[in-house]
Amino acid sequence: MKIILLYLYLSLWLFAFEANIIKPVSTPDDLNIRKVYLGKDLFRDASLSRDGTISCASCHPSDMFGVDNFTRSVGVDGKTGDINTPTTYHSRYFFAQFQDGRAKDLQEQALGPITNPVEMDNTIENVLKYVKSNNHYIVQFRNLYNDGITIENIVDAIAEFEKALVSPSRFDEYLKTGDKSVMRDVELEGFELFKSYGCIACHNGISLGGNLFQKLGIFKPYEGTSLGRFNVTGEEQDKYYYKVSTLRNIYWTHPYLHDGSIEKTYDVIEFMGEYQLGVDIPDEDIKKIEQFFHSLTGELPNVVK
Ligand code: HEC
Ligand code: HEC
Repeated sequence: MKIILLYLYLSLWLFAFEANIIKPVSTPDDLNIRKVYLGKDLFRDASLSRDGTISCASCHPSDMFGVDNFTRSVGVDGKTGDINTPTTYHSRYFFAQFQDGRAKDLQEQALGPITNPVEMDNTIENVLKYVKSNNHYIVQFRNLYNDGITIENIVDAIAEFEKALVSPSRFDEYLKTGDKSVMRDVELEGFELFKSYGCIACHNGISLGGNLFQKLGIFKPYEGTSLGRFNVTGEEQDKYYYKVSTLRNIYWTHPYLHDGSIEKTYDVIEFMGEYQLGVDIPDEDIKKIEQFFHSLTGELPNVVK
């Protein structure tokens, strides 16, 4: 009964919003470029980690759409966590950060990995001591922030860099102009299927994801490596709810799911049909949706080139 209701709810939702539900991205024009470059230096600086070996970019290389493509990224001392590394691209548009939404914005998020024992394993004091001892940073922070080097300003600069990680694609061109010639026919067919199967009920908005929590395993139970939103709220009904992933640059951000258990785009589309929509999507439709995914691969922004 619950499942039928949910399905009805999703279908209604779908009909209500259908055509206008996905929004295009554009190269951002709201950035402080000098902060972006300062943030880029910090993002790539392994000295922010306890033993000087791991930077944000170790796990989120910006020239690879923000992922290292490993099932588990490796932090300080070779340690690994339970979650597959998600992309930092378009994270500025996510309504919360992390699969369970435990950080409200990019500033709050950035503090996590610096002190996380399986990531950079450092202390705030050490990070401040290091940044305050570096001439390049001393000058940059003095010029850009009234109160100079503070942890708030460090994460603010990192967040400013991440806000630049936006990669408009052919699909955006199509959404903005309606010009079908920028898309291949099979990609347009794939997009139609993406809508008609109901993928769009969860993967929508500016990132085709990133704007709601949804249960993973609606039609078939699925246990990954995290209880998801439950970790934050402690509410039974939030078990196995995760932030819906963005599908931008999806071709390049494998492996998939929070546990990184699926390597191929074909398999994850099949999985989504089975577990999220209760349908066996035929082979030819999976392939068309896969082709649609190609049109979501964007151009790297200038700041990372
Ligand atoms: C050892 C690998 C590793 C390092 C180093 C690392 N991250 Fe991550 N990052 C991850 C993993 C794994 C997650 C997902 C964790 C989760 O959702 O519970 C994540 C999540 C994120 C997210 C949230 C994306 C989303 O979809 O919600 C952002 C943004 C991010 N990291 C930025 C950073 C920044 C900034 C740094 C450096 C200060 C950093 N990361 C360092 C592995 C890493
Ligand atoms: C009821 C909501 C819902 C529907 C419908 C849905 N998805 Fe998802 N999708 C999710 C959630 C939640 C995740 C994140 C799961 C996780 O992190 O483990 C996800 C993850 C994905 C991923 C993996 C992203 C990544 O980076 O790991 C892909 C690809 C995907 N969905 C494609 C699709 C396609 C194609 C359809 C339609 C056939 C679809 N989804 C239907 C909720 C949904």
